[in-house]
Amino acid sequence: MTDSVIYMENVSLIRNGVYLLNQINWVVKKREHWALIGLNGAGKTLLLNIVNGYLFPSQGVVSILGKEFGRFDLRELRKSIGWVSSSLLERLLRNDTAFEIVLTGKYATLGLYDQPPSSDEEKARWLLKRVGCDKLGNRPYAILSQGEKQRVLIARALMADPKLLILDEPCTGLDIFAREQLLTMIQELMREEEAPTIIYVTHHLEEILPEISHVIILKDGKPHSSGPKKEILTSSNISDFLECNAEVQWVDDRAWLQLKNLLK
Ligand SMILES: Nc1ncnc2c1ncn2[C@@H]1O[C@H](COP(=O)(O)OP(=O)(O)OP(=O)(O)O)[C@@H](O)[C@H]1O
Ligand SMILES: [Mg+2]
Repeated sequence: MTDSVIYMENVSLIRNGVYLLNQINWVVKKREHWALIGLNGAGKTLLLNIVNGYLFPSQGVVSILGKEFGRFDLRELRKSIGWVSSSLLERLLRNDTAFEIVLTGKYATLGLYDQPPSSDEEKARWLLKRVGCDKLGNRPYAILSQGEKQRVLIARALMADPKLLILDEPCTGLDIFAREQLLTMIQELMREEEAPTIIYVTHHLEEILPEISHVIILKDGKPHSSGPKKEILTSSNISDFLECNAEVQWVDDRAWLQLKNLLK
């Protein structure tokens, strides 16, 4: 349990007598990167909210980065977890520049109140460069394109040197070129020696990069299947998950999904 990045044993989340998450067993180890897939409402964001310490499970054992829930300060833990989601995209202060948005990542707050040290400013500038946004630092975050905003949010999450980085549908709303550019950037990040463990949530199999080693599929709040990517992303397993005739084809080590006989 202590050497796992995520350790969940029989985790359930119950609200008004309904199991929103039901008996989840999930272990993520260092140097693995995982994709989390599941249809709308399957419970992906709820599960990640447990990882992040925003929701407490009704049943089961959760240990994140070797720290068991209920035995330590969740605020401290959150500093080690980067979180990029489209809901965050809209919550950030409208008038801040892209540079300021990145800087605030260090403090896990949504605005800047004190003058940060110059080393932090240098790091924010470097991170903006790393995500290919070095020319955008002085622009208000609010006017950036969707793809630029996502890059800035990833730079923001990296500001605190997270050990775990959660990317919840980062490619939503991106055109096909912006998506590939963002994926290339994420790929470079994953290849780094000291890369954080990445949990990548998506509805699109082709976004699952070659560097992603494992996949977990959630269905109606329960794990449908999980394990090494090539064992999970097979035509028969995906057909079973989607309850239709699905074909998975591998091109350049990425999976592409085709649904057969869906339109009558
Ligand atoms: N506090 C709550 N009380 C009751 N039901 C909730 C609560 N929070 C979420 N739900 C329900 O739990 C289910 C799972 O929600 P969740 O946001 O985790 O889905 P998701 O897999 O992230 O879906 P999407 O792909 O659309 O983002 C949904 O049906 C949602 O309405
Ligand atoms: Mg969600």
